[in-house]
Parts: sequence; structure tokens; C-alpha cells
Amino acid sequence: MKRAIGIFDSGIGGLTVLKEILNAMPGEDTIYLGDTARVPYGTKSAETVMRYSFENAKFLLKFDIKLLVVACNTASAYCLPQLKKELPIPVVGVIEPGAKKAVEVTKAKRIGVIGTEGTIRSGAYFDAIKAIDLSIAVFTQPCPLFVPLVEEGWINNQIVRLTAQTYLQDIKGHWIDALILGYTHYPLLKGVISDIMGENVMLIDSGRETAAEVARCLMDRNILKTISSGQSSHQFFVTDSPERFKQVGSRFMGASFNTVELVNLGN
Ligand code: DGL
Repeated sequence: MKRAIGIFDSGIGGLTVLKEILNAMPGEDTIYLGDTARVPYGTKSAETVMRYSFENAKFLLKFDIKLLVVACNTASAYCLPQLKKELPIPVVGVIEPGAKKAVEVTKAKRIGVIGTEGTIRSGAYFDAIKAIDLSIAVFTQPCPLFVPLVEEGWINNQIVRLTAQTYLQDIKGHWIDALILGYTHYPLLKGVISDIMGENVMLIDSGRETAAEVARCLMDRNILKTISSGQSSHQFFVTDSPERFKQVGSRFMGASFNTVELVNLGN
């Protein structure tokens, strides 16, 4: 039997991570859970995000998944060590892969991080970077307004540009040469962000780096599926509004969904 990769996010944004996983490992089966009833996680307390994350993981474990990807930066920032410790399968979050890549590419030893209030407040990216190289300076900026803008489909208009300019002004003034997009929605704003930051700043997509880490992890354990292992299947579950997930999510995935099932995590 083919065991799937389980992925959860606070909502729709984690589809940017799923997309990278499918690009990197097209033979894999996946089960995605978007906690759309309780999104956003970015403004909630660590205790609440922890409770939600364990409930999400518990739901996915019922499918006998072989690995869990915590696609949400906020959930990774607050809960990864606990999830790793308590779950019986490998768990991959989005913070460490993004931090590692940024450390690899920075020559100026100056890295910027943008994310939700929760991700920035947790200091998770700061700690992950400093754990690799203490001499690197880290500059952070929460950008909460990017989420509703992206979900509205506004990824390159006047309002997005002004919002991005306002958020990124300070961080740009610190002469960073790598900027971590520490938020599931940011890859969709890459164009605007890179215009503002300029060509000397490399944008690090945590989702892409996470997909590479998942592939490494499966390969090390000899449980990576190749395309030749047969057709792959992809299931989607949400805790609210499957129709909205389908509609907005197709923009994130660049593809449409067949079925998205509504689940109640209390069951
Ligand atoms: N998925 C979340 C993250 O990457 C963004 C949306 C939210 O605040 O829940 O942190």
C-alpha cells in the first residue's frame, strides 16, 4: 500500500508548499488539511496554535501518513519541536529549510525575514539562523496585510505595491542580501517584493526549500515514491467553506480541484 505525505496549514496558503512538493516529488500521494474554520493562526497565541496543530496532526495520522509537513510558518514556529517529539512519524516544518538556505546564500551576513506577527514574535527564524551562524545579523518585519490581499487575488496592483513598500522600507534600509518569505502566501507576491527589494536581494521561498528537505528525508528512509510507482492521488480536507477553498486555492495551485471534503476535527 502507498502511504501518503500529510500536510497541514491554517488554510489555503499551504497550497504553495504542496505545489513545491508535487513539483519535486510527482510520484507521491498527498493528503492536505486546511484549517479554514480557524484561520488565521498568525494573530493567535502560542497555546492556541499548539492545540490546533495537534488536532490537525491527529486527523492526518488516521490516514497512516508516512511523513507530516507543517506547511504553516506560524505552526512551525510555535510547535515543531513538540510535534517532532510526540508524533510517531518524521515531521518537517518550513522554518529550518528556509533559514538554512538563507544562511547559505548571504554574503553580506545580513538576512531579512517577513512573516505573520506570531512567526516573528516567536523568534523561530532568528533562532534557526543564529543556531547555524551567530555572526549573521537578522532583521524581521511582520506583514499581516499581505494575507487578505493575496486571498482577494490582489498580487500586483497599486494597493499591494504601496502596502509592500511601507512594510519593506525599514528592512530594505538594513542592506540585507537575502530575504526569507516566511509566510505561506508570500510566494505569490514574489514579483512585487523583488521589484521593491532590488536584484541584489535574493528571495528565499521557504516552501521550495521545505520540499527539498521532504525529498531528502524520504530518500534517507528509502520511502520516496517515483512516478513509476503508479498514479498519484491527492486528497483535500478543510474545516470550513470547501467552495471558497476550491475557488481561491486554484489560484495558489495553478490547477483546479476535483473534490474538497469538509471535516469536523472534533470527531
Ligand atoms: N499559513 C500562515 C503562515 O504561514 C499564514 C496565515 C495565517 O495567519 O494563518 O504563517
